[in-house]
Amino acid sequence: MNGRDLVRSIRVVRAVGPVQGLRSVRTAWRRRRADASAFPRRVAERARVPGAVRGAEPQPGGGVIHFARSSLRVRVAAGGAVFCGWDEAAPEPSYALAGACPEVDARAVLEPDREGGWRVVSERVWVAVSRHGAVEVRTPGGVMLRRELPPRWWDRVGQGEDGAGEEDGARPQGAGGSRWVLRSEVAADARFFGLGGRAGGPRLRGGTYRLWNTDPGGAFGPGDDPLSLTMPVQLVVADAGTHLVFHDNSWDGRVALREGEEGAGSGHDRPGTCELRMDGGPLRYWVLVGTPARVLLGWTALTGAPALPPRWALGHQHARWGFGGEGEVRRVVAGYRARGLPLSALHLDIDHYDGHRVFTVDRARYPDLPGLARELRADGVRLVSIVDPAVKAAPGDAVYEGGAAADAFVRDARGREVRGVVWPGESVFPDFTDARVRKWWGALYAERVAQGFAGVWHDMNEPVSFAAFGEPTLPRSARHALEGRGGDHREAHNVYGLAMARAGYEGLCELRPDERPFLFSRSGWAGLQRYGGTWSGDVATGWPGLRASLSLVMGLGLCGVPYSGPDVGGFSAVPSPELYLRWFQLAAYLPLFRTHSAIWAGRREPWEFGPQVLAHARTALCERERLLPYFDTLGQLARLTGAPYVRPVWWNAPRDRALRDCEDAFLLGDALLVAPVLEAGATRRAVRLPRGRWYDTVTGRAYEGPGQVVVEAPLSRIPVLARAGAVLPVAGADGGTELEVWEPAAGRRGGGLVVPDAGDGWGRPTVERYVSRLEDGRVVVERQDGSAAGYPVRVRGPGEAP
Ligand code: NOJ
Repeated sequence: MNGRDLVRSIRVVRAVGPVQGLRSVRTAWRRRRADASAFPRRVAERARVPGAVRGAEPQPGGGVIHFARSSLRVRVAAGGAVFCGWDEAAPEPSYALAGACPEVDARAVLEPDREGGWRVVSERVWVAVSRHGAVEVRTPGGVMLRRELPPRWWDRVGQGEDGAGEEDGARPQGAGGSRWVLRSEVAADARFFGLGGRAGGPRLRGGTYRLWNTDPGGAFGPGDDPLSLTMPVQLVVADAGTHLVFHDNSWDGRVALREGEEGAGSGHDRPGTCELRMDGGPLRYWVLVGTPARVLLGWTALTGAPALPPRWALGHQHARWGFGGEGEVRRVVAGYRARGLPLSALHLDIDHYDGHRVFTVDRARYPDLPGLARELRADGVRLVSIVDPAVKAAPGDAVYEGGAAADAFVRDARGREVRGVVWPGESVFPDFTDARVRKWWGALYAERVAQGFAGVWHDMNEPVSFAAFGEPTLPRSARHALEGRGGDHREAHNVYGLAMARAGYEGLCELRPDERPFLFSRSGWAGLQRYGGTWSGDVATGWPGLRASLSLVMGLGLCGVPYSGPDVGGFSAVPSPELYLRWFQLAAYLPLFRTHSAIWAGRREPWEFGPQVLAHARTALCERERLLPYFDTLGQLARLTGAPYVRPVWWNAPRDRALRDCEDAFLLGDALLVAPVLEAGATRRAVRLPRGRWYDTVTGRAYEGPGQVVVEAPLSRIPVLARAGAVLPVAGADGGTELEVWEPAAGRRGGGLVVPDAGDGWGRPTVERYVSRLEDGRVVVERQDGSAAGYPVRVRGPGEAP
């Protein structure tokens, strides 16, 4: 046991008590033993590179290029997405893809190049493959976006996974267990983003990032990596263009990034590099090129449109681990109501379960949960339930018995149920990679629905099994169905939360077919957005944690998961009033706006931090309410286009280098620029503006971008700037929607999209386009088709009283 393990053991014992703590020692030993016998320490391996090119065969959308010791499949899909699969890996099966693999671009052609290599030429992208297997992705204008060097595998010898001599031309097939490394180069000026939820971003600086969903164990800050939701998705932004690369492989891996350096006129640039090392699994990847908006559009076409949260999930939500019981819940809701503070939902954590057992209720604390849910609902407040995957391994427990009868739980290599320790004690884990198990699990949500819950919050699904030492998860040798293919936890681990989300989502769709499910999940993988959103997990209370919160939301949005937000105030400790307020003010502009804390970390109600904080929190809450029609629109646009609600300031100007390095502000849709206060004591801050005129939404003062300005950030608010010409829907004083229009600059046009709320069902939205302009000094707004705006219009800008 090393020092870190010791700290973890102490934490585990503190969190779960001495009995479970001892169990976690036993589980850790069991885990170690199981893996040691399944995976002998020493295996003979032989390194392999593709070798020299031998020929190529065209196929629709591209072709297969043969090398001495591998083959590369290159295929361009109809929307311009490029697929590359070494050892002839195919795009499917894949947990990330939304459904059927996209149609190929029939016009893409494979042709030989002059250097003895091959290239696939299509309208949007070129892929050049060298004689030794380097792959370049270029724009049709010939600008290089990404260069992959020939990969290297380490095949196991003597297991039918290798055996190919250097010269004999035989090609070992997609050796699932072979480790591999792939090095790539990007432009010297490129910046990396993504890799799922990372605390130290959003710009991913040089360093190593692990691809293994991990519960950081209580609290994390910017230096902690990995966290609960990793994914091998990178967005690379450079002057030459933007591209997204997705390595479709769920195994454990490490991404070493190094930002490039420009040669300051000497012409000797050092490219940015990315080295991806995977423990196994196919070597296949997708590349999408275009503007950030185009890339995200392509990404959601590939991996699925983001689920649209019901409208109430865009309002303020309050959670707490340790409400104690229904009296306390009533008191909190009454506290919001008495102070005129909007509240949309209240979340019940594991303490409402009976002995922490999932799908149960502690009847002593909640004697009539459906009654409580009805009562709150009448008051406009929904209940949301935490759902953990671990099932208490107790004979007589209905969920356990049902799961055991259905053979639903993960087993070890010898066929025994894998036991771990989570909140309820000794537990077993459903195998969500089995469609049968997903169906069984999804049906269990009937109990939650009957209790009156309106949505679910998936937790501990990395999955976590407390361990006094080693990794706090299942043994790598644990067996999984993997949709009938069979495999082990090395492949299933990272998609466990994703598959659980699918089970929950599909279950809820069946149980309440007329309502869109509300689901958010701590862990997940590429494609999570199809089923719901996520949240920060246990972000540490403190100013660095506040910064990490923003990093996570931005990074996840760029990976296709637009709906997320942090625990306001941080999870782990009592925040100062100022920190709480700044966190609250930031979260009021994030899709998931939720206060939450650990059982030991004090309260998060806005009135707990003194009258001044309460007054300013009320302002933020009211502004959020006012912006709800805009949030609705952004949710719908995320669904239709993949564009996240929260976008980096370079979203429309990825070539602006200063914007590319700006990490402390964001665009909320196209209209607003939000500049949160992330430092103690600050009452003004510098804001980097994209091109155009921007108005401070409170003072009406106009600023001209691009450039940096200093704006007031008193304790009462964080700076929010509106783009000149922007048209956005907001709630008017009577509750109806009105259009807020920010005066366009002279000679310039503006506009905006409005997607009216179509209820919480599945109604197809209509997208209304508005344009704005100045005519004889007067602001004119009309629908793009020339008709008058269908809503009252409120013009804002210089001299306009807020
Ligand atoms: C860990 C989650 O991240 C946190 O939000 C929750 O309160 C605790 N588990 C207890 O369920």
